[in-house]
Amino acid sequence: MSSSNDFAGFYKLTQTERLQKLAEYAGLQTDDLAALNAGLSADQAEVMIENVIGRYTLPLGLATNFLLNGQNFVVPMVVEEPSIVAGVSYAAKLARAGGGFQTSSSEPLMIGQVQILDLTDLEEAAAKLMAAKPQLLAEANQHHPTIQKLGGGAKNIECRPLPKTPAGPMLIAHILYDCRDAMGANAVNTAAEAIAPLIEQITGGRVNLRILSNLTDRRTARAECLIPVEQLSRDGLPGDQIARSIFEAWAFAVADPYRAATHNKGVMNGIDAVAIATGNDWRALEAGAHAYAARNGRYTSLTEWSLVTTADHRPIRHSLWSQGEPPTAEFTHLYGVLDMPLSVGTVGGATRAHPTARVSLKILGQPNARLLAEIMVAVGLAQNLAAIRALASEGIQRGHMRLHARQMALAAGAKGAQVQDIADKLVAMGNIRVEKARELVAGSK
Ligand code: MEV
Repeated sequence: MSSSNDFAGFYKLTQTERLQKLAEYAGLQTDDLAALNAGLSADQAEVMIENVIGRYTLPLGLATNFLLNGQNFVVPMVVEEPSIVAGVSYAAKLARAGGGFQTSSSEPLMIGQVQILDLTDLEEAAAKLMAAKPQLLAEANQHHPTIQKLGGGAKNIECRPLPKTPAGPMLIAHILYDCRDAMGANAVNTAAEAIAPLIEQITGGRVNLRILSNLTDRRTARAECLIPVEQLSRDGLPGDQIARSIFEAWAFAVADPYRAATHNKGVMNGIDAVAIATGNDWRALEAGAHAYAARNGRYTSLTEWSLVTTADHRPIRHSLWSQGEPPTAEFTHLYGVLDMPLSVGTVGGATRAHPTARVSLKILGQPNARLLAEIMVAVGLAQNLAAIRALASEGIQRGHMRLHARQMALAAGAKGAQVQDIADKLVAMGNIRVEKARELVAGSK
């Protein structure tokens, strides 16, 4: 693969030129290029879900400028919303100026839950399960020898007593399952179902649900970035002013769940788009992200931003900020962190069955599941930065409207170069409506 720095000005190329560049970069073959546009065949769709009546397509774009732990990436994203791909690429460029993203991830440990009822003593039942741990793990591991050979499989059992629920007391057994490169829903659910009879035998209780938890707080990924404030200056606004406004925007999300929901939606704009491109379950990621954002009893921001000075590229937070005072001291960088659950796979499920997802993984250099999670968390952090930077300076409508204008021009029947021409006119007139676009199309005939 060549360096992803070569992707400067990618957006200015035609779609054919972009594909040529990408094919060179990622070593894509003719069938890969075909898969980028063809997607699922009717036969593949038929066996994926029930009552299939067609296939639904969305744009697949490429985010550029990503540098993670010194390695370049371009990131495929499937999304219908304008400004997402442009915004994240711009934010990744800002992060690149400060050395890119530093990323890390936990072991890919998923949690399977087994609900146990009709127990007289929750503590005693939990103690019995703990004593039978080797037996329970052995039972769980019988069913997936491949994952075990790769170093994964059931690793631990934990218990969560829930003494007060609307249905009375219950004990929840957690089976911690290392899924390696699979998202692992099937393996975890199989393991949870497999140990249920043994759990009933050991505890004398009655098992009800056996299902994974989407709050995958044992399977997390983390990205950090450090942005020199001068990089943030735009349209005559100094970088330190924009950095401070970004910090204030983040503080708003920390304090207010109404804002945090939208702020985190911005994070998920990026993460979901990569999840869809790579055939991963974005609903699982959404569920995990929002539950995690509320883990301390109040829903809040998933990201953390601070204004810092640096020594040896390590951010030093000014003590004033931690006391909630406005930053008065000099700062040189904006420092961002995103640490969140990310249960994604690179084998199994749609990651391999969907031809476009297969090519997306090829574009990413065939990452393992942990690296994919790290790429996604960096995308989430960058997407959040892109949104709050725009909101804290020029607002998001300007960029949105430019792309929206192209959609209006297309909807009005503009073709080829005429699309951009009409879109530019709509923006210049400040009247981005399909009726106006129709008038312009008619006038140009
Ligand atoms: C829009 O899809 C996402 C934003 O609303 C996120 C945010 O407000 O931070 C722009």
